[in-house]
Amino acid sequence: MVMSMNYPKIVEVRKIMKEAYDVKSIFFSRGGLEKPKAGQFFMIWIPGIDEVPMSVSFIGENELGITVKKVGEATAALHSLSVGDKIGVRGPFGNGFTLSDGDVLIVGGGIGIAPLYPLIMDLLNTTDSITVVLAAKNNKMLIFLDKISNILRSECDSLVVVTDDGSAGLRGLASDIAAKLIEEKSYDHIYMCGPEIMMRKIFNKAEEKGIEVQACLERYMKCGIGLCGSCCIGEYLVCKDGPVFNSEILRKLKDEFGVFKRDSSGLPIEFSS
Ligand SMILES: Cc1cc2nc3c(=O)[nH]c(=O)nc-3n(C[C@H](O)[C@H](O)[C@H](O)COP(=O)(O)OP(=O)(O)OC[C@H]3O[C@@H](n4cnc5c(N)ncnc54)[C@H](O)[C@@H]3O)c2cc1C
Ligand code: FES
Repeated sequence: MVMSMNYPKIVEVRKIMKEAYDVKSIFFSRGGLEKPKAGQFFMIWIPGIDEVPMSVSFIGENELGITVKKVGEATAALHSLSVGDKIGVRGPFGNGFTLSDGDVLIVGGGIGIAPLYPLIMDLLNTTDSITVVLAAKNNKMLIFLDKISNILRSECDSLVVVTDDGSAGLRGLASDIAAKLIEEKSYDHIYMCGPEIMMRKIFNKAEEKGIEVQACLERYMKCGIGLCGSCCIGEYLVCKDGPVFNSEILRKLKDEFGVFKRDSSGLPIEFSS
């Protein structure tokens, strides 16, 4: 790793977009940052508050973006930023997605669609067809609907909207809808990001059908560069070996993937369904 990637670069907020009542996209100048790959993440430093991992959700030549769901102190501070404010950005870190060809299924649950959006942009150049399952608890929490509709190819791609309560699109769980699609069509590859229980169910279905997946995972991160061990899953570190894991690795993580994560002190927390 280039050591300079480990110093925060101070960049200026250029644009802010409200995506939902609790989600904002924050665009900032790329400055001296290396151009990231879809699936990579940055450590975002909010001076005096915290430094937290965020996936890149927009990748431009001169501008990058993250999409932030307000859940606590650091994300609330990011939500209170204005255009012209400065933040510290370290990275990009992690491996990012590997592009495939053929027919692909993409499943994004909630804020999990954020790292998948730049991936979809890339896959438009390599695939025959893309099916996107865009899922949220309800219509108020659904994000990126217009953005994704606008980029998909009308002749070969499709978008399936799913909400738990049926307030937009199909009513149900993304994992059930994805399982049905996997039964009906022979996909070459599946990409997913979202609640880990959702991803585990889709992985199990994909295993039955022999379809390779890539899943973007989250674990508690402190250093972001493989030093502190706080983001461990099995023998792997999510910040360094992930955050994107393929089927071969997920098979080795069956006791943890979708089962439990660790808090900031390393104690296990079970995922609740
Ligand atoms: C690789 C990666 C990519 C991520 N990408 C996004 C994204 O694109 N958009 C988004 O909204 N969120 C993303 N997250 C989650 C985001 O980092 C947390 O929501 C954020 O750190 C919460 O901080 P807080 O102070 O607002 O909340 P807190 O009140 O401190 O915590 C709320 C919850 O957030 C999680 N969290 C807190 N601190 C961390 C940390 N240092 N590392 C990991 N998880 C933490 C914990 O599960 C905690 O229970 C990502 C996490 C990882 C690991
Ligand atoms: S966050 Fe420190 S090793 Fe991954």
